[in-house]
Amino acid sequence: MKINPIHRIKGQLTVPGDKSISHRAVMLGSLSKGKTTIHNFLQGADCLSTIQCFKQLGIDIHIDDQVVHIHGKGLYGLKKPSKTLNVGNSGTTMRLISGILCGQPFETQLDGDNSIRSRPMDRILMPLSQMGAEIKSLNQNNKAPLSIIGTSLHSIKYQLPVASAQVKSCILLAGLYAEGITKVLEPVPTRNHTEIMLKQFGCHVENENKEWLLHPCEQLYGTTIHVPADISSAAYFIVAGLILPDSEVVIKNVGINPTRDGIIEILKKMNASIELHEVKEVNGELTADIYVRSSRLIGTEISGTVIPRLIDEIPILAVAAALAEGKTIIKDAKELKVKESNRIDTMVKELKKMGAAIEATDDGMVIHGVNQLNGASLESYHDHRVAMALIIAALGADNSSTLSHADCMAISYPDFMNDVNSIAKSSI
Ligand code: S3P
Repeated sequence: MKINPIHRIKGQLTVPGDKSISHRAVMLGSLSKGKTTIHNFLQGADCLSTIQCFKQLGIDIHIDDQVVHIHGKGLYGLKKPSKTLNVGNSGTTMRLISGILCGQPFETQLDGDNSIRSRPMDRILMPLSQMGAEIKSLNQNNKAPLSIIGTSLHSIKYQLPVASAQVKSCILLAGLYAEGITKVLEPVPTRNHTEIMLKQFGCHVENENKEWLLHPCEQLYGTTIHVPADISSAAYFIVAGLILPDSEVVIKNVGINPTRDGIIEILKKMNASIELHEVKEVNGELTADIYVRSSRLIGTEISGTVIPRLIDEIPILAVAAALAEGKTIIKDAKELKVKESNRIDTMVKELKKMGAAIEATDDGMVIHGVNQLNGASLESYHDHRVAMALIIAALGADNSSTLSHADCMAISYPDFMNDVNSIAKSSI
């Protein structure tokens, strides 16, 4: 893909639905009794993988006029799939569905693409085994493919060794099938969409002294879910609006759950002009319209408890930091190494090609801002967030760039380039 620099962005847009919330809505809708309707579902490849898996598990799901309709069969209504479930590129599907499958009265196998096969699964194998699950890595390397023989589970109290919402959610979903109260303690709060949505479907989940408690429930009940726009997708336009001169952009109806809004906090600390309007709560999730104006950003430190609140936005924050005045340090972000690509290495390598002063560290990056990035021949490493962050960097560069394997954007934002073009002004 060729990317020409643009002068500025101006206008209003609505980015697609939240990826994490879309996955969870399909999963809980499938496990509920009765009809679930999902509005503004993200029709990206990852969430479509989740739909495909539940169809293979016998659930009737169809998409009609952008709305997902699920005829749930209740907690005990899934049936044995005839072949291996393929999660594609989606870590969320693999880790969350594993928790569900451990409690089913049948055997399943789970697999995905090369990226999924390289990502750590010991983080779910350990707690699920403690709950009595029969789950194993088929190649005995603690990675996919996984084999699960459903069995009866018992509840555990589990202290997460890494701050991971996927692991927390996996344990809570397994807890739906376990005897007793399942308890999960987090080192640092992570996104809480599973907990919020479980309540929407009628399950009793509570937070007590930083510990999540899931009480056994007989049944979940179908409901209507309105998915907010994804702050992780809005992030590209927030940063584009800040770094391109004379820009003004409004992004509508974005999810600003406090476990996800770290990017806003950090960019404001970097002197960004960002305002939130029309703050509302829908299905337990906060949303707002985000107003952004070009700003002269200054470097900062990004570390500690804010990291899980912006973990997926670090690639685009690295772009913002590359053009900010002074030094930015990103630390406590080792988890970036086990995302769809090693996002420390991939972002450092590609931004260096553009003339950024950026170095990798063991748990993050150190970036000294420069005035201008240069056009370059870039690689996405098949990582959707790396692809979109680099496209924004390229829009602000002095010269054209090319990006290889740009099609991976379809994982979370199939229409990204159309949306960029809709608000891009005066191409050079
Ligand atoms: C997600 C949690 C995060 C995030 C991922 C989606 C989720 O992963 O990076 O894109 O939907 O729960 P971890 O829980 O592994 O940190």
